[in-house]
Amino acid sequence: MWFSKSSRNQAGDDIFSKIAPSIFACDFTDILNSIKKAEISGCKYLHLDIMDGHFVPNISFGPKISSEILDKTILLGDVHLMIENPLFFLDMFNHKNVQFITVHFESFVEEEKKLIDIIDKIHSLGKKAGVSIKPATDIKILIHYLELFDLVLVMTVEPGFSGQKMIEPALDKIDKLQDIRRSKSYSYMIEADGGINFENARSLIKRGADLLVMGSAFFK
Ligand code: DX5
Ligand code: ZN
Repeated sequence: MWFSKSSRNQAGDDIFSKIAPSIFACDFTDILNSIKKAEISGCKYLHLDIMDGHFVPNISFGPKISSEILDKTILLGDVHLMIENPLFFLDMFNHKNVQFITVHFESFVEEEKKLIDIIDKIHSLGKKAGVSIKPATDIKILIHYLELFDLVLVMTVEPGFSGQKMIEPALDKIDKLQDIRRSKSYSYMIEADGGINFENARSLIKRGADLLVMGSAFFK
């Protein structure tokens, strides 16, 4: 096995089913082996970070490469769109293996109509709709819409790069989302993304996270 026994023991044997490895952090010259690692570890999802150089100060890859990656795996695609005008691009991420398509609330300048159009479009593609917010964005702005989403992705680093240190205060949002979910009986999943490793993973799950994106700690 590629991962050490101690990392398994530290994190607990079931933890891999809750980890969505971010393929952006892998060695792209060895991508097939990276995908294999995610599969044999017991992961269910593969996280695809789509960056356009506008919404975030970095460029990753787009729909063509995402489809080719998903063609090579049994894992379900967890697409994280860090792009401007996500509505325009949703159709292009309609790969059969995609389970979640997540957009950033900040990327459509908080227009309610666009938000509803985006959710409807994602659902019409047969996918689950996710929303994400940056560390500086208050969870309050999402309150009235939480019921509509299947997933809420809490950014625990500034979006754009893997390998950053987690911004700890962002974790309070997981607690709030967990409280709201319980009190209102909402059904969204809670996902955390950025700076997650085998040392801090379990505490995030305890706080209520259902899915953890892991880039560098998983592949490097
Ligand atoms: C950041 C991305 C993350 C990132 C995670 O913009 O959304 O998914 O690749 O990488 P690590 O785990 O290295 O922070
Ligand atoms: Zn991501």
